[in-house]
Amino acid sequence: MSVTVLIGAQWGDEGKGKVSCYLSRKAAITARYSGGHNAGHTVIISGKKFKLHLIPSGVFYEETLALLGNGMVIDPEALFQEIQMLQDSGYPCKNIKISPLAHLIFPFHREIDVLMEKTRGKNAIGTTRKGIGPAYSDKAERSGIRICDLLDKKIFKEKLLSNLQTKRERYPALNGVLNIRHFADFPERYGEKLAPYMSDTSKIIQDALKSKRPVICEGAQGTMLDLDFGTYPFVTSSDVTAGAVATGLGIPPQEIKKVIGITKAYTTRVGAGDFPTEEKGKVGTFLREHGCEYGTTTGRPRRCGWIDGVILKYGKKINGYSGMVVTKLDVLTGLNEIKFCEAYNYQGNILKEFPYNPKIFHEAEPVYRSFKGWGRDIREIKRRRDLPKACQKFLDFLEEFTETPIDLISVGEERDQVIQS
Ligand code: IMP
Repeated sequence: MSVTVLIGAQWGDEGKGKVSCYLSRKAAITARYSGGHNAGHTVIISGKKFKLHLIPSGVFYEETLALLGNGMVIDPEALFQEIQMLQDSGYPCKNIKISPLAHLIFPFHREIDVLMEKTRGKNAIGTTRKGIGPAYSDKAERSGIRICDLLDKKIFKEKLLSNLQTKRERYPALNGVLNIRHFADFPERYGEKLAPYMSDTSKIIQDALKSKRPVICEGAQGTMLDLDFGTYPFVTSSDVTAGAVATGLGIPPQEIKKVIGITKAYTTRVGAGDFPTEEKGKVGTFLREHGCEYGTTTGRPRRCGWIDGVILKYGKKINGYSGMVVTKLDVLTGLNEIKFCEAYNYQGNILKEFPYNPKIFHEAEPVYRSFKGWGRDIREIKRRRDLPKACQKFLDFLEEFTETPIDLISVGEERDQVIQS
């Protein structure tokens, strides 16, 4: 069977967790391929809310493997907290497999993240302060420490000493933190606990591809936070787009047969950076309150605004969406007017494509198409044709505009409040 990739089509928080959980029921594997516990994937099962940061949503099904791929950065403390939370709720987590090639996040990475944000001053990115950027920097610098290094105390110590030496020179303000004695016991503290979960995740996927059940790759963050294609520098520090699946999991690109772009029926963004369709007034407040738009990882209020068709099309170009999922459609219920950004106006010129020049994006003003809203509660609707007419028109336009079929529509918080389109 082939690989399906779920990609955030906006700035993250599109509801990938819920969609992944819904699709994982029949899957052999759900796998994360990038990022770390900066992600926050919320899944609600029978009224109980789970906030997953590292573990993919397939963990809820005994028959599905939940893989953490080599492209991730993993904070072992956060990982074991998440495992504990799941085990306390009756999920044994025996289906979790972790790539020994994934890189570790240490507490000093978090400290560096905080320090760098302070140093950036008014240009701060608004990171989640989880140490993601500093850990990926170590990986690129070839000084990173991987999960497999925890299995050999001598190697671990050598690598850590050398890593810390450079860090002390670079960040004298953190000298107190950058001392090996704080981390020397990591092999005992985490290595032994991690050993049973370590596996050749690339091989597991290759083997699963011979079976008939799908492999779901659960993207983290969103296309516009991608290190290359996002709104740099206000992005995360990993590749999040479909291309990253092959390198983040060790699977041949030709195995990827479906790429599903997940978009909210509106847009949100956390942290700094341009956001042309942002609504700072009543509409923004309506969306934030109705959509509970507060960060799963940091609790920060999310910036809210109208759906942006220009970035959806841009994401399609980069990721090659074969289908879309529209989430949080129910949040729009009660608005008299709904807007859809179909182009940008830059100094009187109409731009139909996402501009690569950040200065242009900064000054771009949205050109909207207006839709009538609806008042009827749609959360229990199971067929697209039963949705209010105004709602159907909005969805039809989204499909036509992006030239992509909508496969699924999420109309409520619960895992099963979904319309197969
Ligand atoms: P970092 O990934 O913690 O370095 O943060 C970089 C940027 O990505 C910040 O603007 C964060 O708010 C944003 N970000 C990182 N992960 C997520 C996510 O899962 N959802 C939404 N925004 C995210």
